[in-house]
Amino acid sequence: MNQTASTTSSPISALGLLARLLFTRGRNRADLCYEFMGTRNCPSTDCTYLNLGYWRGTTDYRVAAEAMVDLMGTAAGIEEGDVVIDAGCGFGDQDLRLATTKHPSRLYAINVTDSQLAHARIHNAHPSIEYVNGSATDLPFEAGSVDRVVSLEAAFHFDTREDFLRESFRVLRPGGRISIIDLVPLEKNGRVVTGGLRGTLERWASQIPTANVYGVTRYKEILGNIGFEDRDIQSILDDVVPGYLAFMHTLLADPVQAARLHPMIRQAMRHSGNPFAMSDYILVTARKPASG
Ligand SMILES: C[S@@+](CC[C@H](N)C(=O)[O-])C[C@H]1O[C@@H](n2cnc3c(N)ncnc32)[C@H](O)[C@@H]1O
Repeated sequence: MNQTASTTSSPISALGLLARLLFTRGRNRADLCYEFMGTRNCPSTDCTYLNLGYWRGTTDYRVAAEAMVDLMGTAAGIEEGDVVIDAGCGFGDQDLRLATTKHPSRLYAINVTDSQLAHARIHNAHPSIEYVNGSATDLPFEAGSVDRVVSLEAAFHFDTREDFLRESFRVLRPGGRISIIDLVPLEKNGRVVTGGLRGTLERWASQIPTANVYGVTRYKEILGNIGFEDRDIQSILDDVVPGYLAFMHTLLADPVQAARLHPMIRQAMRHSGNPFAMSDYILVTARKPASG
């Protein structure tokens, strides 16, 4: 089963979001940002994917969003019968896609945003999927109990991403694999581009912890320090960002589509040029050693 994205408004208002973010300083509240977005601000009314899409060979958002999930699932090497964790599952479209294409025996889809989980349980239900309210940084699973961990465009929110990687290492069985699609700051001449005050404000508004502001060099180092082997980080930016920007440009030019977006989000999209100009968009894979 799937769903349309257009009808549900935001569970909290812009003012409510701001007030709650100000009063919960020191604690990551990415969930509030997604409660505010609701389903009405999804890129398409055709589905509730939130990823930017993998646009090679297509201009259709849903096809691009599904290609992204396929890329992540294939990179993780998910096989029929595997037990899989998906950390930061959004509205669950990606879990239904993984369940029906990769056939895991169990897929635990974790999220901190209540309204997204409620939506997923209704619209993206499947016998092998269990939607779990919990944080990626404190996975409610036994050590060595899962075959694969995946995460799609969510790890930059986790407080911290490093805690999530450690948790993933703990719950993976020996030889288990992780595959993450993530956004990191660009590295230029050996330095991480953080975007100054504007970057800090944007990260606060979208609840991205400062501790996660590092590039691919440090990312790989952290994976190694935790004990992962076969670490690989590839930039897939060129197959993602130009296609997404072209799609959003068309969407914003359509008065009906533009009108469904929250005015604040619509204005931000209209005036931010390329919001990913200082970012790299990456596919991360690594493996827990088979022994030792
Ligand atoms: C950009 S959205 C991506 C959602 C989905 N993966 C997709 O691509 O459609 C980020 C997701 O991460 C979730 N999230 C943020 N912090 C989290 C945490 N600590 N643990 C689990 N999920 C989290 C949010 O609720 C949201 O669903």
